[in-house]
Amino acid sequence: MSARPEASAPPADVFITHELARRAPRKTSYRDEKRALQALARQMIDRPGEVLLRLVDLAMELTGSVSGGISLYEAHPAPGVFRWHHLRGLLEKFNGETTPRDFSPCGVCLDRAEPTLTLRPERFYTWLAEADISLPEVLLVPLFTAGDTPLGTLWIVSEHADHFDSGHARTLTELAAFAGIAVHMLQTEQRLQAALEQQAMLTQEMSHRMKNLFMVVQGMIHVSARSAASPADMEDTLSGRLQALAGANALVRRTPHDPGVSDATGPVTDLADLVARILAPHERDPAASGRCRFRIDGPPVQLGERAANGFALVCHELATNAAKYGALTRDAGRVHVSWQQDDGRLEIVWRERGGPAIAAPPAKRGFGTTLADRTVVGQFRGTLSHDWQEQGLSVTISVPIANLSI
Ligand SMILES: Nc1ncnc2c1ncn2[C@@H]1O[C@H](COP(=O)(O)OP(=O)(O)OP(=O)(O)O)[C@@H](O)[C@H]1O
Ligand SMILES: [Mg+2]
Repeated sequence: MSARPEASAPPADVFITHELARRAPRKTSYRDEKRALQALARQMIDRPGEVLLRLVDLAMELTGSVSGGISLYEAHPAPGVFRWHHLRGLLEKFNGETTPRDFSPCGVCLDRAEPTLTLRPERFYTWLAEADISLPEVLLVPLFTAGDTPLGTLWIVSEHADHFDSGHARTLTELAAFAGIAVHMLQTEQRLQAALEQQAMLTQEMSHRMKNLFMVVQGMIHVSARSAASPADMEDTLSGRLQALAGANALVRRTPHDPGVSDATGPVTDLADLVARILAPHERDPAASGRCRFRIDGPPVQLGERAANGFALVCHELATNAAKYGALTRDAGRVHVSWQQDDGRLEIVWRERGGPAIAAPPAKRGFGTTLADRTVVGQFRGTLSHDWQEQGLSVTISVPIANLSI
């Protein structure tokens, strides 16, 4: 749910926080509250994933509310949004929706950094009315971690107006302190999990590249030996190929500490340049300037650093496969890489000819295809398709031009 923030201030009777102190608090059982918090703390250890839902349920039980939830602040892109999580009761179906940071009761609550009571906020916040949400009273409290980074808010909704009092605000504040710690712990765990998954993927990718590197080098030795006139000639071409291969490998950056898609002359950001460098080790004579096995053509395309890295990876996988199974296994084999920009998209076609005839699409998909696919789809939000023609493989990659500058 999103709507542009209005310039005007809310009517005076939309935020009625002062009413909390005026209304006499109802009798509360501190013992019940303490027991519930202790149970939550135990749950945090046994089933941390469920603790926030239980916390919202508890907030509703202890305050007689009909709905509640947690809004977590997502800062990027600025000014950010709140995303609704762990919604319970009447508003449960809106789980996962977002609301504007600078035009929402949650935003006001975070700015004020104190319990905030609002009466029928849909009179001012048009996105609530548009979603057909009617809220007699909403009590919100800010969620903070140990530091002062605002995480979001914990909020509850009453069935009628004139419901929430200072006792409810106190209860909710206690629960929010707990929720802040729980959210922080869960986020830390998620970040750790993501880092571990990335690490595992990287290890798999490295062993995949290492294995392929040996196969490609072995292929190069065969080709160089076949065509060399003398041992010195073989040494020459082979070391030229290996140097080009080392250069091509260096273009694929896999960790933030890597030097990146660059060489001695600086970053490589031109698509034609990038493709040429990845293919150079497979050229008949990598040191010679004229190309024999490759044709590269397309208009100039400048890539951002991450995009260059992504293309280097995909191109490297295609070239490796061509050297293992396709056109680059034969002397007569050719690869044509071309691209055009049209309708906001860059379309690249990789076409192999002159390799072994392809009888049918492969039955198995290896890690290389997964890697290329994930890069094009995941990083570029593009598409990658294989056309297994008898004369050779054609691969078409299409990506939105807007994603090339990243
Ligand atoms: N250029 C090509 N020409 C002919 N067949 C190809 C070509 N590229 C890939 N293939 C076929 O597609 C299959 C899947 O390729 P993919 O790159 O996913 O796996 P792989 O190269 O066998 O293993 P990995 O990439 O994990 O090292 C290959 O095993 C091969 O049979
Ligand atoms: Mg492969």
